[in-house]
Amino acid sequence: MPSRRTTLSDFLAEDPRCAGEAGSDLRSLLTDVQAACRLIATAASYGVLARPDLSVDTRATGINFDGDRQHSLDMVANAIMVSACEAGGQLAGMVSEEFDEPYHVADPHPRGRYLLVFDPLDGSSNIEVNVPVGTIFSVLHCPEGIEQPAAADFLQPGTRQVAAGYAIYGHVTMLVLTLGAGVHGFTLDPDTDSFILTHPDIAIPAATREFAVNVSNERFWEPPVRRYVEECLEGVTGPRNADFNMRWIASMVAEVHRILMRGGLFMYPRDLKDPKRQGRLRLLYEANPMAMLVEQAGGAASTGRQRLMEVVPSSIHQRVAVILGSREEVERLDRYHAEHVDGTDNMLFKTPLFQIRSLFRTA
Ligand code: F6P
Repeated sequence: MPSRRTTLSDFLAEDPRCAGEAGSDLRSLLTDVQAACRLIATAASYGVLARPDLSVDTRATGINFDGDRQHSLDMVANAIMVSACEAGGQLAGMVSEEFDEPYHVADPHPRGRYLLVFDPLDGSSNIEVNVPVGTIFSVLHCPEGIEQPAAADFLQPGTRQVAAGYAIYGHVTMLVLTLGAGVHGFTLDPDTDSFILTHPDIAIPAATREFAVNVSNERFWEPPVRRYVEECLEGVTGPRNADFNMRWIASMVAEVHRILMRGGLFMYPRDLKDPKRQGRLRLLYEANPMAMLVEQAGGAASTGRQRLMEVVPSSIHQRVAVILGSREEVERLDRYHAEHVDGTDNMLFKTPLFQIRSLFRTA
């Protein structure tokens, strides 16, 4: 850890992207986001204990507009983000996992030049088992001349993100941020209630022997993904000549955090469970911010068919296939997808007979 304690506020004040009049709006916005994350961390830390000032019941669940399970804490985290960020005057609008439509900054708050997209509490389906959850966010420019942004104004590819990050609420609360020049991690000091720079210039190793995927979807996977996972499971006796370790937390923030700390491969690939869906995770407020962080840390992020951040969104809650992490493994998966399209992959993985092999039944 660096000897001088640099707070997130110091860091933002010193960053050239937040400098001068032009950068001061971004600095203020990110200051509001980190304030929201501190409040969400506190709200989450109460667990099932009732908080008199917040009607949080982490056991209460409902269903959101898109059919996802929704916890009481999801709604609390959403309200905290909105109220912390809308008053500052830097935002023209927001998109949240918890809102069906874009949220317009309410009068009399001034409107600004940025758009904020976020998942207020990612991984909340695990909240009752005390698995780390987190807030994922991404900052975009509001198109020139737009005061009341419509859904179309948010449909920008990940390459246009100005900043992205997440807060992770585990036994330690951290905020991990990129402004497009490296990735930096800040740990919340409970004594001062400020984020301290503890992990500057995070770098993901290019090689890894660790992967994370929800294996219960195996029967729905496409052949390139089945090929990849099966080869990993074959270990030293298979084509990879190496034993692999598997991790699955079912909380994307926790998986990406692990990858930023020590490398690895995470994927929620496209599958045939619901052929209408391109993937499970949301492009604007889950996949894109994580892809920007991972790329900025030297890793790669792909759908298997293209660079994730180059996908042009068609709707604000669009889902997408996600493959991200250590560069060599993401590139291998891209190659397996390309070989499958070309018909140059292993025959076993492109015939219907492939169905007789599975992770747990090797013919
Ligand atoms: O999108 C929310 C999320 O909780 C992610 O954090 C996680 O990767 C994924 O869903 C897990 O989904 P499932 O349990 O359906 O595999």
